[in-house]
Amino acid sequence: MEFPFDLAPVLGDRFCVVDQHLRPAGRRGPAHRGDLEQQLRTVIDELGKASAKAQGLPSPVTSASRMETNRHVLYILRDTEGRGAPKGAVIGFLKVGYKKLFLLDRSGAHIEAEPLCVLDFYVHESLQRHGYGRELFHHMLQSERVEPWRLAVDRPSGKLLAFLHKHYGLEDAIPQVNNFVIFEGFFSNRPAPPPRRPPPKRPEEQIKPYSLSERDFLREEAEPPWPFNLSPARAGGSPVRGSLRPFLLRRDLEGGTDPVPPPRRSRWVPPAPRAFFPTWRGFASIFTPFSSLFCALFYPTFPPIPFPCSSLGRVGR
Ligand code: ACO
Repeated sequence: MEFPFDLAPVLGDRFCVVDQHLRPAGRRGPAHRGDLEQQLRTVIDELGKASAKAQGLPSPVTSASRMETNRHVLYILRDTEGRGAPKGAVIGFLKVGYKKLFLLDRSGAHIEAEPLCVLDFYVHESLQRHGYGRELFHHMLQSERVEPWRLAVDRPSGKLLAFLHKHYGLEDAIPQVNNFVIFEGFFSNRPAPPPRRPPPKRPEEQIKPYSLSERDFLREEAEPPWPFNLSPARAGGSPVRGSLRPFLLRRDLEGGTDPVPPPRRSRWVPPAPRAFFPTWRGFASIFTPFSSLFCALFYPTFPPIPFPCSSLGRVGR
């Protein structure tokens, strides 16, 4: 992926590591600093767009502004040999970051964890299946000092699943209710890797229910949460229970007791047309306010007369 400026001062060596400070690699002095920063932003934005396009996403998961507002780390692989591109070219990138997640182990128990997550990964189309993805991934694993089975992967594509299977033998995914995929060994007590530098302390962050991912906008289901989905205007007006999230979260908070779905609310249900034969009192009661007077005067003297009438719907069926 080529750019109309020299990439060496922007990205430096073959591997460039960018964090939320978006510092370009070049050390040309303050006069050029602004230019380099702008060029780095352009590189990140273009890579994010290319990755989104390759994955068929409606909008990029990676951009310079997103990088600034998150503690993510971007590993950018640059072609330093300049084959056909005198200003250099970018081969691909890998974005990772720590995230607090609610995860399920094999037995279905909820576990709160803050693993390193693979958030975005892209190698230029013309260079895929040449080993560059592995080179990037390997560099990241070494730099972050993490084992591949300790990673959580945010909604991996088929290509990424094949990649993880081929290079790291990861195939037995442990089912999760969020978009993240973890693999066998994630919770195991395999020998821990040498201690890594802990991530900088950050203010206590609230864990969103089931840890919404970077790619949450990709969810197909656009149903509003319970109880807002109970509107009779919805298709057929039939009672639809909303997202299980509030219910699952409550289960979680109540210490793993059996799930209790939210109570069904009574609502007005249109009655099936039905004929019946009311007494004079029943007939009269429909035509209030004269009914009381009518009944008091005539009911004792008249026998009941058949009268077809549809019943009224009741509340609380
Ligand atoms: N179809 C199936 N498997 C593929 C494909 C493909 N088109 N491309 C790569 N792979 C897998 C295969 O296992 C392949 O091995 P094989 O050629 O023997 O079948 C292996 O990856 C190749 O490994 P590398 O060459 O090291 O990987 P590559 O440089 O191709 O990078 C990557 C892998 C990043 C997944 C790349 O294919 C890519 O950019 N794909 C498009 C974007 C994408 O899907 N990104 C992941 C999004 S999900 C996320 O980021 C959390």
